Amino acid sequence: MANGIEIKNLYKIFGKHPEKHLEAVRNGMSKSELNDVHNHVLGLNNINITMPGGKITVVMGLSGSGKSTLIRHINRLIEPTAGEVVYDGQDICSMSGSDLRDFRRHKTAMVFQKFGLLPHRTVLENSVYGLDIQGVSRKESIEKGRYWLNRVGLDGYEDYYPNQLSGGMQQRVGLARALTNDADILLMDEAYSALDPLIRVDMQTMLLDLQQELKKTVVFITHDLDEALRLGDHIAILKDGEMVQQGDGQSIILSPANEYVSDFVRDVNRGRVLQATTVMDPVMTAPESMSVLETDTLENIARDMTDANETTAHVVDEDGKPVGSIGIETLVAAMVTPATQEAEPTEQAAPEPEETEKKIA
Ligand SMILES: Nc1ncnc2c1ncn2[C@@H]1O[C@H](COP(=O)(O)OP(=O)(O)O)[C@@H](O)[C@H]1O
Ligand SMILES: [Mg+2]
Repeated sequence: MANGIEIKNLYKIFGKHPEKHLEAVRNGMSKSELNDVHNHVLGLNNINITMPGGKITVVMGLSGSGKSTLIRHINRLIEPTAGEVVYDGQDICSMSGSDLRDFRRHKTAMVFQKFGLLPHRTVLENSVYGLDIQGVSRKESIEKGRYWLNRVGLDGYEDYYPNQLSGGMQQRVGLARALTNDADILLMDEAYSALDPLIRVDMQTMLLDLQQELKKTVVFITHDLDEALRLGDHIAILKDGEMVQQGDGQSIILSPANEYVSDFVRDVNRGRVLQATTVMDPVMTAPESMSVLETDTLENIARDMTDANETTAHVVDEDGKPVGSIGIETLVAAMVTPATQEAEPTEQAAPEPEETEKKIA
């Protein structure tokens, strides 16, 4: 299994003399004060994130929150002002030149938003670019390139040039190129942000399907919460260079740490993220009804119950052991209403009924 990545007490200050201001930042100087008074930019402020091996960690935040700065520390395209990025027991930030080169070539692969394809190379030649740099034989690299192009659905496009392909297909080439590298760590900085919504969802599905089998340590950056929730085993939210919350999607939706996170969470499709365990009644009050799995999403359960024409269901664990019960009304309410009601009921307009139905369907 791929190793995880530990980001430890990471600071990045941009400017002429970053180290001069580190102590002040450690003592609480804000991003705006550092900027206004000292003309330095606080990129990252004491970031600690555990990115589990073989899982997808999503880093989320508004533009300028420090996402790209963070991901570029992982392959050390940016040097930290202080802190560590530990992979397989080694601090990447203190690797020597040749170790770092090896680490970048063999352990990491990047997928870019702008695809980063070479226009004068064919799709196949683009896909083997990393292997060319590694000095892999032509025969072997071509074989690998064809294999991964096939896996991302580009069979038959090997001899096309990038500008003959749609955006979504170019992004597939970018992914094939990254996978051809056979690196443990996949770094994806807003890789899907420029794609049309439907194509974007296709690309998410493909990544999830591949990940089931590949189990790479993926660091995926996005400013879109729906994408974060769909992809992220672990989600870290940044604001102004600080980490404001990390956890799985459910914990973030159920207990947003502050208003910044609540703003993200407000319009999310809760039914697609929340699982039966979060809303079930631990008491068995549905003796005769159907069973649903505790880890299934509210959206799926609502659909199954509607299909089966049931208003209550048993909730069972993986082994089929009953752990509680759930009623359709509770279920639907949890899908549309924030669990923590805030004090302004007038502004909290309920979703249109048809919108709710669409989400259930
Ligand atoms: N090379 C740089 N020099 C000065 N400031 C920078 C540099 N790179 C990024 N920044 C600043 O660091 C902050 C974080 O930027 P970035 O990591 O690009 O954010 P994001 O990817 O979340 O949009 C921003 O305030 C940005 O202006
Ligand atoms: Mg960015």
